[in-house]
Amino acid sequence: MKIGIIVGSVRDSRNGTSVAQWVANAAASQDDADFEVVELRDFNLPILTDPVVPGAANREYGTEEARTWGRKIDEFDGFVFVTPEYNHGVPGAFKNAFDSIAPEWMHKSVGMVSYGADGGVRAVEQWRQIVANMQMVAVRHQISLSLFTEFDENGVAPNERRTGELAALLTEVVDMARVLAPRREAVVPA
Ligand SMILES: Cc1cc2nc3c(=O)[nH]c(=O)nc-3n(C[C@H](O)[C@H](O)[C@H](O)COP(=O)(O)O)c2cc1C
Repeated sequence: MKIGIIVGSVRDSRNGTSVAQWVANAAASQDDADFEVVELRDFNLPILTDPVVPGAANREYGTEEARTWGRKIDEFDGFVFVTPEYNHGVPGAFKNAFDSIAPEWMHKSVGMVSYGADGGVRAVEQWRQIVANMQMVAVRHQISLSLFTEFDENGVAPNERRTGELAALLTEVVDMARVLAPRREAVVPA
């Protein structure tokens, strides 16, 4: 199984990168899957303006950036969404990236690692509704990091209990990606 750890913030000096690195470091000890950090910012995705709805585009999206993004997401069997909370919801750039492609997400697992004043839980609840439309399975475990007590000047500094929580989340994401594999075979990459 191959799992993408997506950094859903594209801001300069974002906290998301250090959170993703923490996830990737923990994932390195999981021997049943390969993990890769994906910086959304690297893809320079434009705001979706295609006249064709991505779900009906047969992967032939209107911009090269969207096609490149789709090919990257196609590589994975499951994901960890590293998501901040913006104005009590999901970050706009990440939602645009999710909306810009379609079959590349389908029948894959996802685990949520969020951060914010209240752990980013409102963004995660929204993500759970959003990913359901792509027939993704969002696993029960989630990590909700407090900006006030789990970050310092070097980035994320998680509470001790997070180590076990993260291991459980990663195991669930990989297990569920495996369970969903037969469903993915019906969605043939172009
Ligand atoms: C546009 C914007 C809106 C924000 N709204 C919230 C919010 O509703 N709840 C919250 O906990 N933090 C909010 N924050 C603070 C972010 O949690 C904090 O800046 C965090 O570091 C953002 O993640 P990033 O650095 O990876 O972009 C907001 C930040 C921005 C930029």
